Amino acid sequence: MVGGVPDIVEEEEVEKKPRKKVKKATRQRLSTGIEKLDQYLEGGIPQGTWLFIAGEPGTGKTILCLHIAYASLKDGIDVIYVTTEQPFKDLLEQAKQFSINLSPYVKESLHVIDIFDLYEHAWEAKKNGKLKIADPLDPDNLANYLRELCQQEGLENPLIIIDSLSAFWVDKPAMARRITYRLKLRLARLRPTVIGTLQYAVTTGSSFGFGAEHIADGIIQLYFEPWEKAREIQRWGIIRKMRLTNHYKKAFKYDIVKGKGFVIM
Ligand SMILES: Nc1ncnc2c1ncn2[C@@H]1O[C@H](COP(=O)(O)OP(=O)(O)OP(=O)(O)O)[C@@H](O)[C@H]1O
Ligand SMILES: [Mg+2]
Repeated sequence: MVGGVPDIVEEEEVEKKPRKKVKKATRQRLSTGIEKLDQYLEGGIPQGTWLFIAGEPGTGKTILCLHIAYASLKDGIDVIYVTTEQPFKDLLEQAKQFSINLSPYVKESLHVIDIFDLYEHAWEAKKNGKLKIADPLDPDNLANYLRELCQQEGLENPLIIIDSLSAFWVDKPAMARRITYRLKLRLARLRPTVIGTLQYAVTTGSSFGFGAEHIADGIIQLYFEPWEKAREIQRWGIIRKMRLTNHYKKAFKYDIVKGKGFVIM
């Protein structure tokens, strides 16, 4: 000891406090409402990602969206359902056929935007000089609407379903990638999880809209076995990509079953 200062520090005095175990932030996943599909996705859709459900007409994109919406609503997640193709009352009826009762959630945690709402919103925006043309399918009209809705209702991390996303580039498919980018940027501050349906051209079997699929974090492709050969409707799905996920890599057979909806065989 020199001048009262110990030159050797006793071991027990410096005994290190046990380091606090920092919990690894694991990303939350949203259930799809279909047990097997959740397993294929390591628990569900990673929260905050963009998932595209692509496929030909009648493959079951909308029905899958209804299952996903219902699962999130039951888990207490706010859902915004944008329907450009069908009136929402038809979707309610379709859902009920599969024991999916969305009615109790309407205007509570389920917020619906249909093509007429988009049209009215676009007209208001034109009157106020915010939009040049009152185009309901202007992607900025959609982004503004969603941002206003989330602010008014105080929605955080909502699930936004856009059925169909393709509708927003219907007259300019070459712009699909740019439009999707813009939507993604403009919605980012809402920290949403987004499901968008993509239509496939029956004639070419390719996606309607150039390059949009690169922007998606995940793509579930739904397709039919060629019916000329199969002589019946046989449905297949495959998870083509899902970032952050060691997903199932094989095609899976599914059907739309009376009373049950989307069922993986
Ligand atoms: N109650 C039901 N029971 C069994 N199958 C049904 C029932 N209702 C609908 N379907 C099947 O689901 C199909 C419609 O699925 P859905 O509307 O989800 O297709 P989609 O991929 O969204 O098509 P689109 O691109 O035209 O919007 C019908 O063509 C039919 O084969
Ligand atoms: Mg549909």
